Amino acid sequence: MQYRRSGNSGIQLPVLSLGLWHNFGADDPYDVARDMVLTAFDRGICHFDLANNYGPPPGSAELTFGRIMKEELRSHRDEMFISSKAGHDMWPGVYGTGSSRKNIIASCNQSLQRTGLDYFDVFYSHRYDSSTPIEETMQALVDLVHQGKALYVGISKYPAEQQLEAYNYLLREHVPCLLSQYRCSLFDLKARRDNFAGAVGAGSGIICFSPLAQGLLTGKYSDCIPADSRVAKHSPFLTQSHITPQRIEAARKLGEIAKKRNQTLAQMALAWILADERVTSVIMGTSSVKQLESNIEALDNTVFSNEELKTIDEIVNNPQISF
Ligand SMILES: NC(=O)c1ccc[n+]([C@@H]2O[C@H](COP(=O)([O-])OP(=O)(O)OC[C@H]3O[C@@H](n4cnc5c(N)ncnc54)[C@H](OP(=O)(O)O)[C@@H]3O)[C@@H](O)[C@H]2O)c1
Repeated sequence: MQYRRSGNSGIQLPVLSLGLWHNFGADDPYDVARDMVLTAFDRGICHFDLANNYGPPPGSAELTFGRIMKEELRSHRDEMFISSKAGHDMWPGVYGTGSSRKNIIASCNQSLQRTGLDYFDVFYSHRYDSSTPIEETMQALVDLVHQGKALYVGISKYPAEQQLEAYNYLLREHVPCLLSQYRCSLFDLKARRDNFAGAVGAGSGIICFSPLAQGLLTGKYSDCIPADSRVAKHSPFLTQSHITPQRIEAARKLGEIAKKRNQTLAQMALAWILADERVTSVIMGTSSVKQLESNIEALDNTVFSNEELKTIDEIVNNPQISF
């Protein structure tokens, strides 16, 4: 595994991290979830990304991870970097969503309980919430650090303006933002354009999610919807309507470039994000150990020729495929 320093901090992260948004819920086979976490850890992927609402049902991915920690990895806690987040809908009533102090602190307490951890390595505000003063959200994160419940803090999906406000508040409180989490893939160039420079300027690391556009950048949907795929499993976040002819065609063209590089499309899609040195780590999702192991091979070739980059740019600079 390769590691990169996160912004101006002393923390190094593996360039590939494992996310538990899908495939780790109560409805997913425990043995597969456990084997993916253990394989990742064995291969040097020591960063695992959680959130309160991952499942389904919400909370169950943290329960699964807590069980894996308890039964398999307890003695390795200090070798691991574990995140969670609060901000999206979690429990009924006005306190179960948003980025208020009430929600952030209660949610972190619940997440610690579900995972059985004493602390998170990084705790994120999962989203900017325009109905909460940003100072309130940031102070809640700062207080989690002071309470020993988080070692570092991060922000996720913050728009450019609020992203800078967040960094400034955190810097004033001497709890600098460790990681800024944004969606980034060959099909989503927005954060590279709008958010990366601000993060670098403030000394924050950058961690990218949904690097394979939830599977669209694997070519798996080119002919049909595979029975074991995210779309077939009725994820509300990736539906048949996202599989458009334009995206299929773009994936096909990108797949041709990947083939010439002796990579799968998924491997090239991961390598392409990592070719940007500003990126600290990429959080991939996987539904099997086979996918995980194949994706790790992306690291065998992360160098792109100017010609490859130009051809890739021509394919992906297309608003019709943006996702
Ligand atoms: N901050 C936020 O708001 C936010 C939002 C979303 C995600 N995230 C984080 O980012 C992580 C990754 O997101 P994501 O799951 O959307 O990532 P992704 O890497 O874009 O998509 C993962 C899915 O692609 C398919 N796949 C992966 N490797 C494959 C391969 N080699 N061959 C074929 N199919 C493959 C699998 O789906 P199948 O089920 O089809 O096999 C897998 O579950 C999440 O777990 C979470 O930690 C954060």
